[in-house]
Formats: sequence, structure tokens, C-alpha cells
Amino acid sequence: MREFLIAGNWKMNMLPTQAKMFVQELSGTIDETLHQNPTIRTVVCPPFTHLAGVISELTSSEIAVGAQNCYFKETGAFTGEVAPSMLKAIGCSYCILGHSERRSIFGETDEMISQKVKALLAVSVTPIFCIGETLDERESGQTNVVLEKQIRAVFEGLTLEEVESIVIAYEPVWAIGTGKSATPEMAEETHSFIRELLHSVANQFGHKLTTKILYGGSMNAANAYDLLSKPNIDGGLIGGASLKVQDFTSIITSAISLQ
Ligand code: 13P
Repeated sequence: MREFLIAGNWKMNMLPTQAKMFVQELSGTIDETLHQNPTIRTVVCPPFTHLAGVISELTSSEIAVGAQNCYFKETGAFTGEVAPSMLKAIGCSYCILGHSERRSIFGETDEMISQKVKALLAVSVTPIFCIGETLDERESGQTNVVLEKQIRAVFEGLTLEEVESIVIAYEPVWAIGTGKSATPEMAEETHSFIRELLHSVANQFGHKLTTKILYGGSMNAANAYDLLSKPNIDGGLIGGASLKVQDFTSIITSAISLQ
């Protein structure tokens, strides 16, 4: 049976009360189905200010909760930052890292993201590590070079167990928020390159790595089935469509029909 992870990245949207109402409706709509389909995992990633409220709404739900960022130090004089152990303590099981918006708007580097991934692994919070090329990079034939650099910066030197406990989200920057998704064939070709590269970086050739590789970038209710039907696409990291209960549950239902 195939396992899928369907993750919603809410970005900077909703107010705390709206977030609580949203997850009440979401869990009311999909929880029973998720309970019956344990190979399909679902996670929502609200802004920091909504985490505690959303977590308390979802205490008896199958839906997990994740953050959208964290710092790599555990404590100290880092005004405005949040430590991995703080996320762990309130009940976050995932954290998105290295999103292209963090890289381009907030100047996050491969080196910082690598430190953050390690800090999350140290407290057993699953990193959803984002990679992806810009339109210029794709058009100049640099996609694989860019992805390889982003992956090596994080994965080199990790143990097999660590490699398999990270979730990768391949998000072509040109597909984020544009309504222009990669075609399923294009995404599959890149996912398959990423998986092969992981095998080589982790020096694992006899063992098929179970590291999940999600696709992100204008995934929606209409294109999710075709994307998820590809063998190397293990789920989605969804922005806009994760803010609508019907669209998000429809993506989850597509994964269920393909498991
Ligand atoms: P959209 O689904 O809105 O394109 O956003 C994708 C994304 O950035 C998820 O992290």
C-alpha cells in the first residue's frame, strides 16, 4: 500500500478564531475517513500564533499540526525566534523549513536550513524540507544542479535513519501561488532525480529509501489525482487550496483512492 502525506501550508493567513473554526470543520469532514485509512497522513501548518489553539482543537483528531519555521538554537538571546523544543512541547509534530519564501524574502541560506533540519531532528519533530528552482534556473537547464546543491547542503553526513525521517517538498518556485503547476510528468521526472540523488548522497544502493518526497506548487483539487498517481510523488505541500476545507479534503480523498 502506498503511503501519502498531505500537508497544508497556511502561510500568513487567517486569525486564531478562524483557524479554530477551520480545523473544527476540517476534522468533522475528514477525520473518520482518515481513521479508516492510516496510510494517509494529514498535517496543517498554521502561523505560530494559531498553533496552540489549533492543537487543542485537534487533540483527538487524526490531523497533525506543524509550524512553518523555527530557529536552530535551543534557547538564548534570539529575539523573535522560536526553538524546536518549544514546538515539540506544544505538540507540533512537523515543521516546514527552507520554503522558497523564507529563502528569497528572509535571506535563509542552505547553511542555516541545514542547521535547522538538524535541530528539529534532535527533538524528533519531522522537518518538511523545501527545495526548488526558479523559472530562470529551469529555463537555463540548471534545475538539477540547483536541487543537488540544496539537497547536499542538508543531507550530506546524515545517518540512514535521519535521511528517512526528513520529508522533502519539491516546490518549483515558478509554480508557487501562480496557478501554474508542473505537469505530472515534469514533476515525476524531477522527483525521480531527487530520489536517485538521495541514494547516492546517503550511499545507499541496496535499500530503497523511504524518504517522502512531496510536490508543492499550485496543487489543487483538480490536478492532485494526476500528480499523486506518479510513483515518486508521495504527497503534497499545498498553499492556497489548503485554506478551503472542500479543496483540501478533495486532495486527501485523491490520495486515499491511490493508496
Ligand atoms: P500554492 O499551493 O498556493 O501554490 O503554494 C504552494 C506552497 O508554497 C506550499 O508551501
